[in-house]
Amino acid sequence: MIILKTSDEIECIAQASRIVAECQKVLIGLIKPGMSTLALDKVTEECIRDLGGIPAFKGYRNYPNSLCASVNEEVVHGIPSHRVLKEGDIVGLDIGAIVQGFYGDGAVTVAIGEVDSQKVLLIDVTREALQKGLEQAIVGNRLSDISHAIQEHVERHGFSVVRDFVGHGIGRQLHEEPQVPNYGKAGQGPRLKAGMALAIEPMVNMGKPGVKVLEDGWTAVTTDGSWSAHFEHTITVESSGPPRILTACA
Ligand code: MF3
Ligand code: CO
Repeated sequence: MIILKTSDEIECIAQASRIVAECQKVLIGLIKPGMSTLALDKVTEECIRDLGGIPAFKGYRNYPNSLCASVNEEVVHGIPSHRVLKEGDIVGLDIGAIVQGFYGDGAVTVAIGEVDSQKVLLIDVTREALQKGLEQAIVGNRLSDISHAIQEHVERHGFSVVRDFVGHGIGRQLHEEPQVPNYGKAGQGPRLKAGMALAIEPMVNMGKPGVKVLEDGWTAVTTDGSWSAHFEHTITVESSGPPRILTACA
């Protein structure tokens, strides 16, 4: 069942999402070669708590940290570690916060210093694909219109969309119905209604779409070793016009 949110509930999701966006801004401002992903995790947790939120990922199915930091061929759910970022790396920063029992969830992928142009393109295409998906998140459309728009943009650039992880409804739970795949035919699935809150999150590989989870039980990497990018926004479907993007940087 897809749970429609009241405007009060949406304000809680919005507050949680604003915290996510603020933390992203802080991380982007200080990330540089030589920093470990664990240092970024520490900043993330402090930032979420300073802003009045609770880190959403820490303890979620025993996930150990507040940040998912996925470097290069890591797709999502990279566990922060003493690994040091170096010039030329790319890193996905995925953050969740809880405010008054409601979740916000968002991710960006950033380049560390100078990064080769194909990888910059990978990041740009993934960000654009999210944007294309958001443009379809309008009342009366069907869910897979979002999925299809994302896939089409990605494949037009010769990259591939990850199948094994999908976006999701969001609210009192991090993952609610519906699942929001980043691939599929248009015109399928439930109609979008005002009050739906969705986390839309394309994961895009330079090579093949396959992924596998490492022995830590979390870190998903590409099976072919190609690099991967991830962007995510928490949004609400509005009664008319474009969605409200709750994790947009102020
Ligand atoms: N944005 C990711 C998701 O929706 C992050 C979850 S990390 C977890 O799945 F640790 F909380 F699972
Ligand atoms: Co998510």
